[in-house]
Amino acid sequence: MCGIVGYIGKKEAWPILIKGLERLEYRGYDSAGVALMNPGEILVYKKKGKVSELSKFVKNKSDKNIGGTVGIAHTRWATHGEPSDVNAHPHLSMGGNIAVVHNGIIENYLSIKKVLIEKGYKFKSDTDTEVISNLIEDIVKSTKVSFDEAVRLALLEVVGAYAIAVLSKDDPETIVIAKKGSPVVIGIGDGEYFIASDATPIIEYTDKVIYLDDNEMAIIKNKKLVVKTIGNEIKNPYIQKLEMKIEELEKGGFPHFMLKEIYEQPRSIKDSMRGRESAKDGVVKLGGIESFQDKFFNAKRIIILACGTSWHAGLEAKYFFEEISKTPTIVEYASEFRYRNPVIYPNDLVIVISQSGETADTLAALNLVKEKGATVFGVCNVVGSSIPRATDAGVYTHAGPEIGVASTKAFTAQLTVLLLMCLLLVNKKETLNKKEIKKLLEELENIPEKVEKTLLCNEKVKKIAEKFKNIKNFIYLGRGYGFPLALEGALKVKEISYIHAEGYPAAEMKHGPIALVDENMPVVFIANRGKLYEKVVSNMMEVKARKGVVIAIITEGDENIKKIADFWIEIPETSDVLVPFVASIPLQLLAYHLASLRGCDIDKPRNLAKSVTVE
Ligand code: M6R
Repeated sequence: MCGIVGYIGKKEAWPILIKGLERLEYRGYDSAGVALMNPGEILVYKKKGKVSELSKFVKNKSDKNIGGTVGIAHTRWATHGEPSDVNAHPHLSMGGNIAVVHNGIIENYLSIKKVLIEKGYKFKSDTDTEVISNLIEDIVKSTKVSFDEAVRLALLEVVGAYAIAVLSKDDPETIVIAKKGSPVVIGIGDGEYFIASDATPIIEYTDKVIYLDDNEMAIIKNKKLVVKTIGNEIKNPYIQKLEMKIEELEKGGFPHFMLKEIYEQPRSIKDSMRGRESAKDGVVKLGGIESFQDKFFNAKRIIILACGTSWHAGLEAKYFFEEISKTPTIVEYASEFRYRNPVIYPNDLVIVISQSGETADTLAALNLVKEKGATVFGVCNVVGSSIPRATDAGVYTHAGPEIGVASTKAFTAQLTVLLLMCLLLVNKKETLNKKEIKKLLEELENIPEKVEKTLLCNEKVKKIAEKFKNIKNFIYLGRGYGFPLALEGALKVKEISYIHAEGYPAAEMKHGPIALVDENMPVVFIANRGKLYEKVVSNMMEVKARKGVVIAIITEGDENIKKIADFWIEIPETSDVLVPFVASIPLQLLAYHLASLRGCDIDKPRNLAKSVTVE
């Protein structure tokens, strides 16, 4: 949450910073701002609203001065203080000497603020961040240490999470960056450096990057970079090569990233399994967990930790792991788990799932499990992000950058990797015979083609969305593998179209939610022809008996449900375990079209941000 960008070099900073903010806008869009070094002063421009508002504001300023070659910028997801011009970052210190952009939360800001107020400092904003700039200014004034040393000393006083970039009026050729709990990447160019919350603003300039670790700071001064710990120990940074491609960050002709990402799924699912399985030989090979294979194979129980859509992928995985690999599996919301005192056994296998690899609750749950001595495996999408760096081993989903706030291709990529992990275990435990494993892998290899075919339902889904665009509520029902899908379908609708939607296990409906059903209630059923087909059809009849409107996701050619349901969308036939891969497509498209017809901001839904780096 919140995106930070910085540049120091020989080019004009403003165009690089504003473009960087556009790339990071998925992290928050409540306000945006920039600080540029100018001889003898730091110029700050900031504006409530999206990055485009900042651009417009600066463009229309008659006295604008945007020529500097050093600057920092920020796009905000508000925590402390409402979205407003004054609460937008960067925050200048009272004397105008220090400018700070910050992603994270300073937990002890009130006590620091109190001390600074007693010393005569005046605060303009309601943010926690403003204490950092004033604290640094105060340390420079009172101790006469260098700017970077003042930043270090300030950070020793600060409790909480941060990624910060700091400028000082008196050191115009310097940027100081620091990290604890929130991500920051430094791109290394030719005599220039790029700073960002993730690599997306950097990739078009350089593919050489350094990821700072927690409690580390970087001082870029007179074209030289020094990395040290907040404890003042010099570090030798590891320079990595980025694999990302610039086209992956563009909409490629689609009106929204979400739609592009829905359509990318045949490819992203293929990428998630590429080189990791062979149906012909009935084998699965996951290089990322080989060194911890014994732990993996000896698991008596699996604990899956995640949030949001990743949690739904984890819930699907519970069904795979229990049904196919016969391994007891529990799935927990990371945010709940982290504040319990959970019982972890030495032979538990813990899997954390996260698209961004930065979700604060998931990261905290992971750290708790590690403290308790368990081995943790990650399933993440963003290479080099905090979660994969903190896990013992793991498998990247390789879905490519997911920019739309609503997770789509990351979900099906997570399902792919989790199913492969499950089949690795199945092979070892021999809970299926070789023929059965080969058959499942063969079906998995056919999934990209089936997803491609399912995408042809787009126009039909759009027509259905037309009928329901003004509705206030939806119910989503499914059983077995269809139940996590019901939750996921409902989440997609809520987050991007702002229509209230409940996901429920279809059979639980009669224990309460059925009271909501009348002729105004659309009920979406995941009703593929599978093990629980008859049961789901009975639940559908119960809804019809109460005049509910049924939209059913059915297996191709199911003439029976076509006679019962008001609307239906067909998906290709596949085994139960693989249904979530194809059935998630119409659910994603339904949410997309509802949101689009209602004129919602699909890629940047209100109040949300792509990576939730605060708890
Ligand atoms: O990056 P993560 O997978 O850890 O994110 C978890 C959730 O914040 C995320 O899935 C969220 O629920 C999405 N907006 C859902 O579309």
